[in-house]
Amino acid sequence: MTFDRSIKIAPSILAADFANFGAEVQAVEAEGADWIHIDVMDGHFVPNLTFGPPMVKALRHHVTTVMDVHLMIAPVDPYIEAYAEAGADILTAHVEAGPHIHRTLQAIRGAGMKAGVALNPGTPASSVAHVLDLCDLVCVMTVNPGFGGQSFIDMSSKIAELRAMIGDREVHIEIDGGVDVGTAPLVAQAGADVLVAGSAVFRGGSVEDPAPYGENIRAIRAAAA
Ligand code: DX5
Ligand code: ZN
Repeated sequence: MTFDRSIKIAPSILAADFANFGAEVQAVEAEGADWIHIDVMDGHFVPNLTFGPPMVKALRHHVTTVMDVHLMIAPVDPYIEAYAEAGADILTAHVEAGPHIHRTLQAIRGAGMKAGVALNPGTPASSVAHVLDLCDLVCVMTVNPGFGGQSFIDMSSKIAELRAMIGDREVHIEIDGGVDVGTAPLVAQAGADVLVAGSAVFRGGSVEDPAPYGENIRAIRAAAA
């Protein structure tokens, strides 16, 4: 993975067909996805449950771009090695998931992955001020995590604040939740470079008819440009 600040579209498979993830990943990559975003939920840190390391490992055989794993779990540390073995390229933990985000980010890098830190809408930019040298990505949640298809919460000022804090560091700013052609310009303008989108990418298409995935990705990318 080489670093750049060009806009990257990361479809979230939370909005894909759960019985057909492998084919969905292949379809959305063929249609122009830059990264694949994988939402891991534990029914504890967030009020929803998805899947764990075995599913992520199975997906590794299908992802040829970047496997971006977003952990919405607490605790995180006991599972870091399992996600490294599963082949995650980027592993993101929430700053709210425990008292030791500094240690968690060190452990993620120590396990050979890129480290990400995610912030819930109610969490200030300052919460990551002292870990920016330990991470490769800051994920700004623009919904309360747990479900796809929720309404976008405007976090433009937080994104701009983080962009200034990051300065010349090679740290991506990722936006997650409610990203579509209407909201993409706001977040790109504020300084984001990775746009996660679930419903707005998978809407209207399927493995049998993937062309809408491509149209949706191109529309979001164009809106962000
Ligand atoms: C929310 C997840 C998101 C979600 C985004 O907890 O982290 O990645 O899938 O879905 P949309 O784009 O539908 O808001
Ligand atoms: Zn996510």
